[in-house]
Amino acid sequence: MGLNKVLEPLNIGGITLPNRIVFPAFQTNLATPEGFVTGRLLRMYRNIAEGGSGMIITGCIAVSDDGAPATNVMRIKSEEHAARLKELFTAIRKNGAVPAVQLMHAGRQTLSAITGHPLVAPSAIPCPVMKETPVELDGNGIERIQDDFAKAAIRAKKAGAGLIELHGAFGYLIGGFLSPYSNKRRDRYGKDKALFFTEIIEKIREKAGDIPLSCRISADEFVDGGLTVSETKRIAQRLEEAGADVISVAAGTYASMAHMAPPADMGEGVHVHLAKAIKDATGVPVICVGNIWSLEYADRVIMENKADLVAICRQQIADPRFVKKSLNNQPFNKCTGCGTCIYFLRGANSVSCPQNPEL
Ligand SMILES: Cc1cc2nc3c(=O)[nH]c(=O)nc-3n(C[C@H](O)[C@H](O)[C@H](O)COP(=O)(O)O)c2cc1C
Repeated sequence: MGLNKVLEPLNIGGITLPNRIVFPAFQTNLATPEGFVTGRLLRMYRNIAEGGSGMIITGCIAVSDDGAPATNVMRIKSEEHAARLKELFTAIRKNGAVPAVQLMHAGRQTLSAITGHPLVAPSAIPCPVMKETPVELDGNGIERIQDDFAKAAIRAKKAGAGLIELHGAFGYLIGGFLSPYSNKRRDRYGKDKALFFTEIIEKIREKAGDIPLSCRISADEFVDGGLTVSETKRIAQRLEEAGADVISVAAGTYASMAHMAPPADMGEGVHVHLAKAIKDATGVPVICVGNIWSLEYADRVIMENKADLVAICRQQIADPRFVKKSLNNQPFNKCTGCGTCIYFLRGANSVSCPQNPEL
């Protein structure tokens, strides 16, 4: 297989990734109801790490109780949670990949029946899909959640995470603040919609010190009145100025869910052009994602300077050994884009994949 760039190492924020392939955050609902890592999660990530990706972003992890997107999402609110995560990060590292972790708060895109708390958001506007009206966060609420991100980052770093990703995509709390679609505030967090995010970065830098930070954003929300790439280029620049080492470019919100995990008929590399636009506007490495099905295509994206890293999610769920099998010209189980993984992520169910009964 004539690959040029995708197997090259990359230095970011003082660490070296062994290649340019990333397994991005993938919420499974496979943790315990208290948010502890389970044997199934360990096995899933160990298999993917053995498969050959250079970086594995575990999670998402909910940083606050009122920000849990699902019943069995991973948490990091105690030393005991961190100890189980340490096992997970160690297993990933032993298999040659850099273990990373995604921290998030679901904002209005969850239900109080899941979190056990009133929903919170930049403005008291319900998500059109979840339909529950959130409470508008006041100054104390904003500070509490920013501190939760910082505390989670300190624990994750101590537990051995090599990089921390902050989930600002898909309309969750950080993404909700970024967007005029969901942020109608008149205070400084409304006038400067990136402020909530940049303050989190600054707090993490101040309290957790040096650790590479990736910021995931939806470069286009694909909703009327939402973010488009003309605004997100500027947001990415602000994140870079605040200390982001990587920008991870995704797309969509719950109201445009097809873009979050695009069906196959949206085409190969459907959002690569967005990554290219953000890459051209910033000076940090950029991760692209969305229907990337082969290493040859991933290599081409990097060769053509459209992104620096390529995230491949569902294809590595369908076959955790996809990377190595591709390199060895072995057949692998193909993701058919059937949507089962997403479909089963409702209520108290966990993900499953018809291609990978081992999951
Ligand atoms: C079941 C499922 C859960 C996901 N969970 C997360 C998540 O927790 N955080 C996140 O940023 N993206 C999440 N994603 C999005 C993926 O990281 C990725 O961007 C998306 O699947 C598109 O990549 P792909 O075409 O390679 O699958 C999830 C996707 C799926 C299918």
